[in-house]
Amino acid sequence: MNILLTGAAGYIGSHVARLLQQSGHEVFGADDLSTGFATRFDGKIEHVDLASADAVEALKAVFLANQIEAVVHLAARKQVGESVQKPEWYYLQNIGGLANLLTAMRETRVQKLLFSSSAAVYGMPEAQIITEDIHCQPINPYGETKLIGEWMVADAGKAWGLNHVSLRYFNVAGAGWEDLADTAVANLIPIAFAAIRAGEPVRVFGDDYPTDDGSCVRDYIHVLDLAEAHKSALEYLDQANREHSVFNVGTGTGASVFEVLAAIKEQTGVDFEVSIEPRRAGDPPKLCADVNRIQSTLNWQAENDLESIVASAWLAK
Ligand SMILES: NC(=O)c1ccc[n+]([C@@H]2O[C@H](COP(=O)([O-])OP(=O)(O)OC[C@H]3O[C@@H](n4cnc5c(N)ncnc54)[C@H](O)[C@@H]3O)[C@@H](O)[C@H]2O)c1
Repeated sequence: MNILLTGAAGYIGSHVARLLQQSGHEVFGADDLSTGFATRFDGKIEHVDLASADAVEALKAVFLANQIEAVVHLAARKQVGESVQKPEWYYLQNIGGLANLLTAMRETRVQKLLFSSSAAVYGMPEAQIITEDIHCQPINPYGETKLIGEWMVADAGKAWGLNHVSLRYFNVAGAGWEDLADTAVANLIPIAFAAIRAGEPVRVFGDDYPTDDGSCVRDYIHVLDLAEAHKSALEYLDQANREHSVFNVGTGTGASVFEVLAAIKEQTGVDFEVSIEPRRAGDPPKLCADVNRIQSTLNWQAENDLESIVASAWLAK
């Protein structure tokens, strides 16, 4: 199948692209290279800011020239803190970019879309194991843009028959190939690696949460497992009757910050100091995916454990 992948030069996009290419798909990229690197993607990249005035025409030209049948939409701004500082820009980028993409798809009759959503749509739920059906209450503009994005693709489904699936990723980490590291230093594992490499203590925000060891528990999903989930979701889009359009992508089991740090010590053989800091606002004690829906509907489940996530992340550049 001919697929356009937005955000193809990014951390997750480059994994999804490579896996789809290895499975025989023809993948075209679209990316403004603001946080991505063109070297991560082996193929043609359309350099375009999806939120810009030129985006609709540029995308339509790519769709028509390459007989694109499906779009995997990962391009987005994803820094929670930045989204709180610059909410209007996040709306312009993430919502404006998606509106342009949907317009171009509608006008060229590209009917399949996989949308990259996030566990950030859930906010601070009371439940610790989260099913897709709980009420979504994002607590920052980043999460809001993801929830609105889900609504936009669902509305396009109703209005002009778009076939869509939204994948709510939990904490993505690791590397499937050594040249595809997560360079953003925004999540626990890259942040810990940066501190270790700088010879500084790794900061832990809160050790008095109501969890087994007092630190926050999250659901870490290997980026290669996540890429496999995209493959399964694309196949699902081809089915005539689809019961669901939103899926959690996680492992269903969480790891605490201290467990992640212990895995890092074990896998890297490097000892390091830890500094305990006050809790951060907006961090729930535990957030894990209920993965029953994706397992039973897409026949997908995560294969990699925390050790392989940490070891692969450490080796990647
Ligand atoms: N990394 C995670 O843990 C995580 C968790 C949940 C959801 N997500 C989502 O996954 C997607 C990919 O995230 P990532 O971690 O690979 O981030 P990334 O920053 O590495 O990749 C995003 C890519 O999109 C491009 N991009 C951003 N805005 C663009 C725009 N307006 N026009 C064109 N290109 C643009 C960037 O240059 C980059 O290559 C995002 O939608 C993000 O919200 C990520």
